[in-house]
Amino acid sequence: MNRKYRKTVVAGNFKMNLLPSDIKEYSETLRQLSGKARHCDMLVCAPFVMLPQAVKAFKDCRIAVGAQNLSDKESGAFTGEVSANQLRDLGVKYVIIGHSERRAYYGETDELVNAKVKAALGAQLNPIVCVGETLKQREQGVTEELVSMQVKLALYGVPSDKMRHVIIAYEPVWAIGTGKTATAEDANEICNKIRSVIRGLYGARISRAVTIQYGGSVNPKNAAELFAMPDIDGALVGGASLNPSDFAAIIEAANQ
Ligand code: 13P
Repeated sequence: MNRKYRKTVVAGNFKMNLLPSDIKEYSETLRQLSGKARHCDMLVCAPFVMLPQAVKAFKDCRIAVGAQNLSDKESGAFTGEVSANQLRDLGVKYVIIGHSERRAYYGETDELVNAKVKAALGAQLNPIVCVGETLKQREQGVTEELVSMQVKLALYGVPSDKMRHVIIAYEPVWAIGTGKTATAEDANEICNKIRSVIRGLYGARISRAVTIQYGGSVNPKNAAELFAMPDIDGALVGGASLNPSDFAAIIEAANQ
């Protein structure tokens, strides 16, 4: 991380875990354990059905609430979808877009990811845009090209004045939920590549200011080493965010 130029952000992604009735206890424990963290931004991304409880539970503290998805459409006859304005109205501040699980299981394309990024920004939500390669793609030697393409397509047409709201999360698919973390050096190399792509698109000042997270089996043991890398500005945490003590330990590592 490099706090001189950009924010460090630690985000939890609950995925399809926990129950609405779990949020109160979870939030009380997390608030207690992470109360002193001043040097990083924190948030939890909960399933849609838990967002009202989560917003209420984390009111008046530094922990923000995010969603894990949204519709690319503004409003209308789109049964089962949730719009950016609906999230915003609820008090949600962030939204994960283009997670590899949505790309792989729900057919989300780069084009849809781009439309969702614009929808989020249009409603003053902060998108966390996920990019990352599969194991096969890594073995094929196309990681840098693929991740660069994902970043460029996700940000296509996004004006530079909106970039201060955008977070990129580099999540190698093979490291998600597997216990296999990218080495801190390898993760940093790709985060650095992402920053250079953003430099090419938006210039040096914006690329220096953009927060780039790493995600994929981040836990209390490996967090500090990852955060010590210059281009890794925090983490998107799946499994370890379900346990507030583990999540607080990761926040603590980012707060150093
Ligand atoms: P894990 O931390 O469980 O590997 O999940 C990472 C992730 O996908 C966060 O979005």
